[in-house]
Amino acid sequence: MRKKTPRRIDLEDVKSKVGDLPSLPEAVTHVLRIMDDPSSNATDVTNIVVRDAGTAAKVLRLVNSAYFGLASKVSDIKHAVTLLGFKELRTLLLAAGSFGLLSKLGGEQKGFQEIWKHSATVAMLARRIVARRLELDQETAFATGLFHDAGKLALFGYMPIMYRKIVAEAKKQSISFFEAEKLCMDTNHAEIGQWMAGAWRLSPSVVAAIGLHHDAVNAPNEPYALVCEFANYICWLKGINGPGNFGQRTLDLALWKNFGLASDDLDALAAIADIESEFAEIIAQGG
Ligand SMILES: [Fe+2]
Ligand SMILES: [Fe+2]
Repeated sequence: MRKKTPRRIDLEDVKSKVGDLPSLPEAVTHVLRIMDDPSSNATDVTNIVVRDAGTAAKVLRLVNSAYFGLASKVSDIKHAVTLLGFKELRTLLLAAGSFGLLSKLGGEQKGFQEIWKHSATVAMLARRIVARRLELDQETAFATGLFHDAGKLALFGYMPIMYRKIVAEAKKQSISFFEAEKLCMDTNHAEIGQWMAGAWRLSPSVVAAIGLHHDAVNAPNEPYALVCEFANYICWLKGINGPGNFGQRTLDLALWKNFGLASDDLDALAAIADIESEFAEIIAQGG
């Protein structure tokens, strides 16, 4: 009798394992609404911060971090908000709120922190990369970076045995997590993340870019996926990879230049990646 090969795990299996996805916290949906509303202003956002002690503490830590490099310590929250500016503050709130959400996906703390640190660093770098392209939106780039590996968090929290199998396979063969997923499942963290982002009603650009973030070079109509690829490459250069990635990464310099970036920009972005990851760690601290 022929031995039956076990059915490989696909997206539907992941969906049923995850069940009801934890929903985005009120603070995050609030910020997203404000971001979409042209009539809102810095005061609206400041009010959210002042109401929430944990976020207020994070804002103070951030303003006093190397990221801002201020000469003297700031201890007043309203002053901190003024220094931070509306845009940075929105970013901080979105990231801090998402951290709370993603931590609900479960899993052991250390691995979770590592994926998070990588994702938040990609988000910050993605925003810097699009800063020079006026037709692109910095917040969309940021949100894409922040959630691009959310599918990994779902595997990590809900399917830990499969997650460990993928990491072990990647290590054994010196390949990336994504390549190892192809060997282990009929789905991958990009597809899973795309489903999650859709369920959270993130913008269509973010949802599409997450789904394509490992195939960006073949998706010329998804600039945010390409930006995410660039930011991932810089993280790889700096060793801020997240767990389970082995082997080499390459950068398509022609695409980089086509995007309007110079070789000098790569050095400049790599140099600030460490500070960006400090920002990510502050956001990821409890509170
Ligand atoms: Fe990824
Ligand atoms: Fe990544």
